[in-house]
Amino acid sequence: MAEEWLRIRGGKPLQGEIKTQGAKNAALPLMAATLLCDGETHLSHVPALSDVWAASRILNRLGVTCLPDGDGVTIRNDGLTGTAIPDADMRRMRSSIMFLGPILGRMHACELTLPGGCELGPRPIDYHLEAMRRMGAVITEEHGAIICRAERLQGTHIALPFPSVGVTENVIMAAVLAEGETVLTNAAREPEIADLAQYLNQCGAKIFGAGESTIRIEGVSQLHGTVYTVMADRIVAMTWLCAGAVTGGTVCVKDVVPADLDAALNALQTAGCRIASTADRIYLDAGRRLHAVRYLRTMPYPGFPTDAQALMMAVLCRAAGTSVFEETVFDSRYKHVGELLRMGADIRVSGRIAVVNGVAELHGADVEAMDLRGGAALAIAAVAAKGESRLTGLTHLDRGYAGMAECLRVLGGDVVRMGSCA
Ligand code: UD1
Repeated sequence: MAEEWLRIRGGKPLQGEIKTQGAKNAALPLMAATLLCDGETHLSHVPALSDVWAASRILNRLGVTCLPDGDGVTIRNDGLTGTAIPDADMRRMRSSIMFLGPILGRMHACELTLPGGCELGPRPIDYHLEAMRRMGAVITEEHGAIICRAERLQGTHIALPFPSVGVTENVIMAAVLAEGETVLTNAAREPEIADLAQYLNQCGAKIFGAGESTIRIEGVSQLHGTVYTVMADRIVAMTWLCAGAVTGGTVCVKDVVPADLDAALNALQTAGCRIASTADRIYLDAGRRLHAVRYLRTMPYPGFPTDAQALMMAVLCRAAGTSVFEETVFDSRYKHVGELLRMGADIRVSGRIAVVNGVAELHGADVEAMDLRGGAALAIAAVAAKGESRLTGLTHLDRGYAGMAECLRVLGGDVVRMGSCA
């Protein structure tokens, strides 16, 4: 099939207001969690993304119907008919690992393969498997298939070696129907985890402390469906703020929880952006040349998010002075750097460190998205760059942004999605 691309004519400050879509990283675990709940769940504010359709396909294959409905999905669970996730689905989406906890919790068995790709360096699933073992699962590997069995899952104490988002969510989902109490320490504290727990508690679960480092889950015998609204996507909100910042513009992002973005907003303020917020809006004014941020280190929440690293790098490419990034969460998350160099950026990478010397102007170029957030960083850098850019690799963007071109146009950007790349 002919590849699509974005034609981006940049160089003008962005201006305007934009609504934030529902959070992909909340919607996907919520969809997986519906496997645990009998009857019907309606999720609204679900973003129209390829990863959401992939999750929907997995639900359908397991015998649960998932149908799009307005700005959401209706999921009807009258009992699962399968326990296996086909390799093709596992490869298509890394978040397919989120189905392990619920399938095992519900069916006492689950077969899957390693989730696909290595976009951000190796993304092992050892912590996921170890946590399930601690709860009583017996796990074997046969010809690349991972086979998990548990006559019953038993609540226990699990101390995570690293506050992994996905593992925290899988443990919660495995534990809600397990026997007895599970206590999870060194849990991840991302707001998406609190969103998952709030949904499950609304369905009858007993989860205490989600959003904190220690989470306690009392197993219950049954969960029911509910109606739930997915939280706002804080990283997409950060994308529009960074688009405003890198172009020297003024933007207002609506339908967002400003507190979820504290560390990211701090970084933008340190760079010289003026920021104000209300209960559900953030205003950003970057009406002059920004300055470097001496040191930015990605950390688990509430630290500066790894998902915003590439976006902030695009901003600091044009800021006066030298900024230093340290990526501590993933091994290989600087794939956007080579592409930013094509636009005239001055960046050096050594291992987990990237040193950015700000330049006064970026220029348009042919660039390729290598991963989701790196691709978004290229899109906003291109909106700031003088001249025309062609951005390819849109399948990455489509995993996380419901209409990147349309959204940037709402803010006054000259961005058009084009057909085949000649
Ligand atoms: C989630 C987010 C992703 C975000 C990341 C960090 C979703 C769908 N995705 O990903 O957007 O970038 O959190 O905020 O919510 N690790 C292991 N073994 C494991 C699991 C993880 O070594 O079994 C390591 C990873 O290699 C990585 C680190 O732990 O270095 C963090 O990964 P994790 O928090 O699990 O990220 P995800 O849940 O995959």
